[in-house]
Amino acid sequence: MSECWHILGAGAIGGLCSARLAAAGAEISLICRSESSLQQFAGNALILREQDGSESHWGPPNLRLELPSSTAPIERLLVATKAHQAVPALAAVSQRLTPDSDLLLLVNGMGVAEQIQQRWPGLHLYCGTTTEGAWRPTAGVIQHAGKGTTRIGRWQLGGPAPSWFSHWQNSALQASWEENIEHVLWQKLSINCVINPLSALHDCPNGGLLERPELRRQLPGLCREVERVSQAAGMPTPEEGVLALVESVIRNTARNISSMLQDRRAGQATEIDYINGYFCQQAEQLGIDVPLHRALLAKARSVLQATN
Ligand code: PAF
Repeated sequence: MSECWHILGAGAIGGLCSARLAAAGAEISLICRSESSLQQFAGNALILREQDGSESHWGPPNLRLELPSSTAPIERLLVATKAHQAVPALAAVSQRLTPDSDLLLLVNGMGVAEQIQQRWPGLHLYCGTTTEGAWRPTAGVIQHAGKGTTRIGRWQLGGPAPSWFSHWQNSALQASWEENIEHVLWQKLSINCVINPLSALHDCPNGGLLERPELRRQLPGLCREVERVSQAAGMPTPEEGVLALVESVIRNTARNISSMLQDRRAGQATEIDYINGYFCQQAEQLGIDVPLHRALLAKARSVLQATN
């Protein structure tokens, strides 16, 4: 296989996908935001550290670093930035897209795909979500923290997988093709809009939401609101119920620091608008009152923005 992927987002997930796709034989062009972020890659190489401590170095010819201002056309683009950075990052390379370009969006939360579709209606848009665990100890170094699965599908159109999906299947990313990626993204959103703001506001690992009675008490009401909005939106709800699903994710990720709490601790902007903001907006459009979520969103916006 020798196919090219351009990748926007040199963070943990963008870096992990770059290394995994390069290992599967794809040619990777990792687009760095600026000259100074490009300079941070020692020897122009990306280093991937596996959980067993082994390391692989990815540089030319398998992986090249470039700037948005480079002129090569982009045929296939993975956007793996923070949700709020996706549209500005895409705008910086949009002159390099062609009428046939494919774009795979791998960001947390929901709402970005709609923004992209509105601004660049001709793009072939795909969305994905991953449970791979990774973090970036320093620029240019990615630490793999846990094996997960990556689910990908064509945004709003469904249909069979394109030929490039084989790059993902041949990689170690355990990718599956989804006929209805909106349902998958919604289910992830249902989990994130309960776990992320509570853990971020109370500065606790996910497990704290079951261990601390004052937090545990909030789960049933929040999950009932999620269930009502899901039903009104025509989204499938888990057979066991949203509360049981959320509780099982909390148990399975008890020691994790949620992505929103990681952002808060790092003093970075969080994805609250694309998780809880999107959820409350959907509820409002559907005429479902979600007072508990509205209060949680208001609190999270005021507290988390103060740390941004
Ligand atoms: O956003 C996250 O951190 C994760 O999606 C989840 C499921 C909350 C686990 O930490």
